[in-house]
Amino acid sequence: AFVFKQLFRRKKVADILASGEQDAHHGSMARHLGVRDLTAFGIAAIIGAGIFSTIGKASADGGPAVIFLFLFTAIACGFAAFAYAEFASMVPVSGSAYTYSYVAFGELFAWIIGWALIMEYAIGNIVVAISWSDYLVSLLSIIKIPALGIHGIHVPEWMTMDYFSAKRGHEEVMQLLSAGGSNVEISDALREANAAWTGAPCIGSFHLVLDIPALAIIAIITWLVYRGIKETRNASNVMVAIKLLVILLIIGVGVFYVDTSNWTPFAPNGVSGILKGVSAVFFAYIGFDAISTTAEECKNPQRDLPKAMMYSIIICTVLYIIIALIITGMVSYTELNVGDPLAFVFEKLNLNWFSGIIAVSAVVAMASVLLVFQLGQPRIWMSMSKDGLLPAKFASIHPRFKTPGFATIVTGFVVGIPALFMDLSTVADICSIGTLFAFVLVCGGVLRLGMEKDRPHGKFKTPYINAQWIAPLLLAGGITCFLAIAPCTGIDFICSRKLKDTEQFITALKPEEKAKLEAAIISERIIPAAYYHDKHGFGDFFKTLSSEEQRAFIKLSALPKEKFYETGLSVFAGNLPHWIFFLMAFLLSFWSFRHKLSLIPLLGLISCLYMMSELGWQNWVGFAIWLLIGLLIYFGYSMKNSKLNKINPH
Ligand code: ALA
Repeated sequence: AFVFKQLFRRKKVADILASGEQDAHHGSMARHLGVRDLTAFGIAAIIGAGIFSTIGKASADGGPAVIFLFLFTAIACGFAAFAYAEFASMVPVSGSAYTYSYVAFGELFAWIIGWALIMEYAIGNIVVAISWSDYLVSLLSIIKIPALGIHGIHVPEWMTMDYFSAKRGHEEVMQLLSAGGSNVEISDALREANAAWTGAPCIGSFHLVLDIPALAIIAIITWLVYRGIKETRNASNVMVAIKLLVILLIIGVGVFYVDTSNWTPFAPNGVSGILKGVSAVFFAYIGFDAISTTAEECKNPQRDLPKAMMYSIIICTVLYIIIALIITGMVSYTELNVGDPLAFVFEKLNLNWFSGIIAVSAVVAMASVLLVFQLGQPRIWMSMSKDGLLPAKFASIHPRFKTPGFATIVTGFVVGIPALFMDLSTVADICSIGTLFAFVLVCGGVLRLGMEKDRPHGKFKTPYINAQWIAPLLLAGGITCFLAIAPCTGIDFICSRKLKDTEQFITALKPEEKAKLEAAIISERIIPAAYYHDKHGFGDFFKTLSSEEQRAFIKLSALPKEKFYETGLSVFAGNLPHWIFFLMAFLLSFWSFRHKLSLIPLLGLISCLYMMSELGWQNWVGFAIWLLIGLLIYFGYSMKNSKLNKINPH
């Protein structure tokens, strides 16, 4: 029982504020930031690799309808921002979500959040550094100074990407070539990956493929942050101005090149296609919460932080939706699966000079994200170290530069080295799941404190809407709607069945089975004549159907289910994240009913949890391993060294 108590011991708001005052006597940080600076900081941290890079794949999967995902994510982040704002005004100190959980849930959760925030800041920066490198390379390639004989600077491919992408690309090219001879279409991205693999120096059979620019930018930013950047604010304001200007320019110019026929079909791959972009789109919003780490430098954090978070989310949402509409209007969504979509669409329309401008500004925009996150990570570690959960060295301040020098350098290594060889989408997913988890706990923290009678109060309070009836009704309504729109998908989910790959089951069908399936479709649908003309006709047509339609026709054909579905434990395991989501949704509705929970943090929690459940079981496994490592450190070190041991000695 004692250990249990220790795990959930909490910090008191009054103590945190008092120790903040004490620090103040030893020379605190200067309070310079107002609402405008904070909003700018928010935008500095938000607009980056997400919109310049990862949105490419999300649009390719979801089509123009990806804008709905932007809207949904913005609303979810808005709810979470309320929770952040409430805490930031109650405990205006640098530790952000980490400190908030210490207050709401106690030490163990605080540790977990601190650990998860590494995924947001450090891993997030790996993503940004990799995209930064993509843009830098394409920028260098278009530099032309005829007087000096420079016609584009070419960096050898093996120095510009990660090992795994190169390997995969090479294998794919080999496959394509062996399947189709020499005149197959190979995309630029594949060609580059192949060149990286074949051109790389080899150590034995190991191909040395490394993302050198990604490491270089992290080294530079870390050095800046280490040296103490008095001008961070000004630098970030300038970068934000450039960033916004270019985004507006892209919108202003792009709008004239929109061909509205590209917007049909609007949602080519249905809901499941849109949902593939969850991680990428959420990634584009990460950062508004980072401004809460500057609470000790705000003139009036309790008034300004909440406002600034909301303003920055609203501004970015509007810009994102317009940008998504423009790029999916300029070219067909099918072409957007590239690492530099904004530059790409203009290049595609032969506006090379303009894509040059975009590449320059992307390099600036992403550097500002790197800067904010690279500042945020050591601050979180510093807070954890001050509480005794990390070694004291992490809080040591460089005597001359007045920055947490050691923590900053460690951050540099933790971000820079993996950036050399990690693959972009893997790290983006890990970053999103960790950040979502932090959001879930911050929303949960507000709910938890709301249930206490003598709860601490800040100046900002989330408007209270009683969720007692609304939450259960929303849940019931949601489930009913889902089953009405997609009954077959729902039943397959409950029965743990998963559709096999379309190509696979269509080719495995016998002619008479195929005829049966065809007959089922024809009884309800007209198959366009075009599909009859080529030999893959029927299969190709079947692929154009949504997965709900496919399931419905399979059912109608009365063919044996095993031909189309996988079943078994692995399918169930794959569905686990969704089951966890449903379970939590039920529990939360029940708690809302009993305790009259507040609706806004509740919706924040549920929507973030939902996004987590969309991230696929692989990411959950990765996340679980990460947490496990964190727990080992906690039980091996932090629990024994916590400062709270001294305040409440055993
Ligand atoms: N939202 C930040 C970006 O997109 C992390 O780069």
